[in-house]
Amino acid sequence: MPSLSVSRSGSNLKRLGFSSDPIPCKTLGIIGMAFCLFSVFLFSHPGCQSELISSHFQHLWVSPPQPNITTVSPSSPTTINHIVFGLVGSVGGWRDRKNYIESWWKPNITRGYLYLDVPPPADLLPWPSSSPPYRISEDNTKILEITKHDATMVRIARGILETFREGDKGVRWYMMGDDDSIFFIDNIVEVLDKYDHTKYVYIGGHSESALPNFIHSYEMGFGGAGVVFSYPLVAALVPKLDDCIKRYPFIFAADQMWQSCLADLGVYLNAQKGIHQIDLVGDLSGLLSSHPEAPLLSLHHPEKVDPYFPSMDRHQSVNHLMKAAKVDQSRLLQQTICYHRESNWSLSVSWGYSVHIYENIFPKSILQKPLETFQPWVRDVMPPFFIFNTRLPIREPCEAPHIFLFKSIKNASANRILTNYARVAPRGLPPCPITGNHSADHIFKIQVISFATKLNEVSHHQLSCFLLSIFHVKFE
Ligand SMILES: *[C@@H]1O[C@H](CO)[C@@H](O)[C@H](O)[C@H]1NC(C)=O
Ligand SMILES: *[C@@H]1O[C@H](CO)[C@@H](O)[C@H](O)[C@H]1NC(C)=O
Ligand SMILES: *[C@@H]1O[C@H](CO)[C@@H](O)[C@H](O)[C@H]1NC(C)=O
Ligand SMILES: *[C@@H]1O[C@H](CO)[C@@H](O)[C@H](O)[C@H]1NC(C)=O
Ligand SMILES: *[C@@H]1O[C@H](CO)[C@@H](O)[C@H](O)[C@H]1NC(C)=O
Repeated sequence: MPSLSVSRSGSNLKRLGFSSDPIPCKTLGIIGMAFCLFSVFLFSHPGCQSELISSHFQHLWVSPPQPNITTVSPSSPTTINHIVFGLVGSVGGWRDRKNYIESWWKPNITRGYLYLDVPPPADLLPWPSSSPPYRISEDNTKILEITKHDATMVRIARGILETFREGDKGVRWYMMGDDDSIFFIDNIVEVLDKYDHTKYVYIGGHSESALPNFIHSYEMGFGGAGVVFSYPLVAALVPKLDDCIKRYPFIFAADQMWQSCLADLGVYLNAQKGIHQIDLVGDLSGLLSSHPEAPLLSLHHPEKVDPYFPSMDRHQSVNHLMKAAKVDQSRLLQQTICYHRESNWSLSVSWGYSVHIYENIFPKSILQKPLETFQPWVRDVMPPFFIFNTRLPIREPCEAPHIFLFKSIKNASANRILTNYARVAPRGLPPCPITGNHSADHIFKIQVISFATKLNEVSHHQLSCFLLSIFHVKFE
């Protein structure tokens, strides 16, 4: 059982001869670009109806009322009670998607509503208290006659208005999302606490695939994965929403409708890491194994990708991931990279999901790039396919990792948590010759011990340290 020296602080890297920043896994900056989207887009779009635009022109430039700061109580920490979810689903999809919602929904704790297209049939009643209470979306016939929009798009777009009209008290944030998303609410609370709910705030994430951002907008929060609006912003948006729907007959996505309407109010997106639209197909393991150092907030489209754990079906996979999420969301999927110098190995740990062992020393700047095990949402397009860098999987002894997936979690001691990872399959390759032939074939199980203290409550130095032990047991 060799002891591993493990660190995120960069000290091991220095010993290995890499020069390293003291905080090596810094988040990559997103360069915001300001340009006149309104004039460029509207007046050059083929579907643009100029009379309609000009008749609404005045409305676009009226300053919205500013939120009445004095009515907001002084800032206490944000809690789950401050958030109301607006989830738009359908009766047709509910049988499959109920499991996804119930994996994260906390009955009688999380607040919110599930909007259905039609009343649930008898076999779905009585409605379980383990699911969010349902509502039937309003009849949008009148507006649809005018705009000729797709009915589902309008139903989703107006979901924010209907959620607001429920009149919940003490709300700081509204979070809209699809019924096929898994939300990590402890992390959502932690992240929202960093934003000022008394201001106009609009938070969301991009699509991972380049094309959907290009088709819709790089300035928009993709709605299925969760878009968050501060209370005063929703209060300002709601009276304008139907006008926006009429003003933009050519917009065919509800999340783009919100973005356009908010831009008219002078409010732009805060792109937040950890919100995952998953506009991807195939095997997501490469992405889930290299999550950036940011809290995991959502995973959309679980039904569009392979099960997260290949030995389980999709529902079981989600519930399995939630076993780790229920103990410590703050570390979930977060990547820690460490080195075992005696063997010339690099280890990449995605807490609660996977461990990869490479029989080679790779710098963190390489390992933080996801292995491209997945495909873009739309195939047969020119690269770049994704809005982040990837590594192509290479089946060679010095390149291909040994892969271990999350098996179980338990308390190791009063303030330590133990996660177990088991080998998926034999790697089927000889050892890497250039680093000394140190095979990892005999390792079948990895234990990761982490602090019970949540990541956000510890200093950087503490969070950088994982204790690892490897059991040398023959793989069968
Ligand atoms: C703002 O809130 C204060 C205190 O509740 C109230 O007296 C005032 O009328 C409000 N102003 C507006 C514009 O609503
Ligand atoms: C939620 O609260 C209601 C009423 O207080 C109760 O009947 C129900 O059993 C609770 N549901 C759960 C899952 O705790
Ligand atoms: C693990 O520890 C936590 C916090 O100390 C405690 O709430 C929980 O019940 C423990 N779980 C088990 C299975 O002992
Ligand atoms: C690690 O690999 C290097 C070549 O990359 C080699 O020189 C060194 O001897 C190896 N160390 C061990 C412990 O095998
Ligand atoms: C590793 O094994 C190969 C094949 O057996 C051999 O040619 C090579 O010299 C070995 N490398 C080291 C560093 O021992």
